[in-house]
Amino acid sequence: MNSVNTKVKSAERNPVNKTTEMAQDTTLLNPRFYTTDFDELDKVNVEPIREAWDNIMNELRSDPNKTHFKKTKEWDKFDFDDLEPELRKEFIDFLVSSLTAEFSGCVLYKEMKRRGKNKEICELFGHMSRDEARHAGFINDSLREIGMDVNLGFLTRTKKYTFFKPKFIFYATYLSEKIGYARYITIYRHLEKHPHSRFHPIFKWFEKWCNDEFRHGEAFALLMKTDPKLTSGLNVWWIRFFLVAVFATMVIRDQTRPAFHKALNVDIEWYDREVLRITSEISKQVFPIEIDLESPRWKNGLKRLLKAFEKLDEAKRQRGIQSKIKRVYFGAVAGLTFVSLYLIPVKKNSVPKNSCLQPTY
Ligand SMILES: [Fe+2]
Ligand SMILES: [Fe+2]
Repeated sequence: MNSVNTKVKSAERNPVNKTTEMAQDTTLLNPRFYTTDFDELDKVNVEPIREAWDNIMNELRSDPNKTHFKKTKEWDKFDFDDLEPELRKEFIDFLVSSLTAEFSGCVLYKEMKRRGKNKEICELFGHMSRDEARHAGFINDSLREIGMDVNLGFLTRTKKYTFFKPKFIFYATYLSEKIGYARYITIYRHLEKHPHSRFHPIFKWFEKWCNDEFRHGEAFALLMKTDPKLTSGLNVWWIRFFLVAVFATMVIRDQTRPAFHKALNVDIEWYDREVLRITSEISKQVFPIEIDLESPRWKNGLKRLLKAFEKLDEAKRQRGIQSKIKRVYFGAVAGLTFVSLYLIPVKKNSVPKNSCLQPTY
């Protein structure tokens, strides 16, 4: 895998379109590509959770969404040019960012299957990469309708990869699968009540789609349950870190798409609260702590973080020494605010012995 971001040079040699460039961009807030220590991953032993493991594997083998990701007559005619320019821009950003996240899972899971030697782990990641490839492909189909599909082969070769030890992959990916579920189901349920706000057919596919994400999250919950050390002792501090990082990133990113949420008739603050509530509730299945989402410190801290990121963004658009000073200053404010969010006392959970859940939201 290429660990160097060769964006500029490659773009000169191979003309890549705008969406491929957007997907390739690796910033603090954009979805990343990951790689891990495959030998360490091979050491996972599923015997302690054998029964639950066999159940989730049977579910994955049965491939419930095999025929779901096809455009049927439900796929209403849609013209991107009918959208207001701001909405068009934000919707494309939403599609590209979702696609990058889906494809990031696909690439990582595929590598885990390809490079692993542990048969059970390889089988799990084989099923999950199959699902993520479908998800990414389906989003890319919608972008293809306007000639803006992402060059996924190019992206695989040129996007920067971040190395995470397997346990960090488990924490981060578990959360992104469950938050992905919560995001898709919340939009889907909202649009069931407000069908006139469903401005693109892809949202109709979200209900069954998010069940895939839910299942993937269940598999990661089980991987963490194979070894009690992964969710105790010092690792609880890491879990806390990932909870704050994943939650805060989502809130900041959603705020950058006001026109998109307005078109869906979704109040962003309500939506984020709902998604975090669902994700936090689900994560009690495996994490011994949860963030106190009702704490005024959490709510105010998120607002301060948002402000700092807005100011940072503003400074990035300016030039000269003033811009540099502002970037350093607001970068430091954002960093300190993140630390203050991290230090808010958390709530303790007693994790159930049998942690399996069903997607009931
Ligand atoms: Fe997915
Ligand atoms: Fe997934």
